[in-house]
Amino acid sequence: MTRARLVVLVSGAGSNLQALIDATADPAYGAEVVAVGADRDGIEGLARAERSGIATFAQRVGDHGSRAEWDAALAERVASYRPDLVVLAGFMKLVGDDFLAAFGGRTVNTHPALSPAFPGMHGPRDALEYGVKVTGATLFVVDAGVDTGAIVAQTVVPVADDDTTETLHERIKVAERAMLVDTVGRMAREGFRVEGRRVRFGRFASADESH
Ligand code: GAR
Repeated sequence: MTRARLVVLVSGAGSNLQALIDATADPAYGAEVVAVGADRDGIEGLARAERSGIATFAQRVGDHGSRAEWDAALAERVASYRPDLVVLAGFMKLVGDDFLAAFGGRTVNTHPALSPAFPGMHGPRDALEYGVKVTGATLFVVDAGVDTGAIVAQTVVPVADDDTTETLHERIKVAERAMLVDTVGRMAREGFRVEGRRVRFGRFASADESH
């Protein structure tokens, strides 16, 4: 079986990345991480990749003349690894037009809230402050909005009375890592198609829309 090529983009600790790296140790998982990129240097996410012998790169916005130039450079660098699927795993930047032109429909992002509730950078904090009793994580196909893309998978996590943002986010991340590994594996092994807001697994006749 040919393994799907994953490029993973990170901005921080990289525990979701590590879960993917661990899963890909089994060839039956159906995917391999061919490169890990970041928008900054010196983060644990990049160190995790290096320890596993995976190629790494950093593209910092500040090294480019504009956000659009950064986005084009990021897209070019990711393209050089010929990914089948790009996984944003704690990547704290919005990708732009050039990136979406190259990888739209085959870039997924994991978000620590149940979309469409609580988009943005502070999903766990916003859910806690709102007072919801359940929250969770969402894996979606990236589009031009902020956490608005078609949903591939969600996982539910109860909110405890004594939760802080930190304890809640840590518990979300346990469920999130399992969801990410399960779902990316299915996408790699089974293929998928985005139909409007719905994502279906499986391989389909019209090759231009399925991956
Ligand atoms: C994850 O919970 C991910 O959903 C979140 O950052 C965390 C990264 O953890 N991403 C966002 O909030 C993006 N808006 P990790 O670096 O340990 O994988």
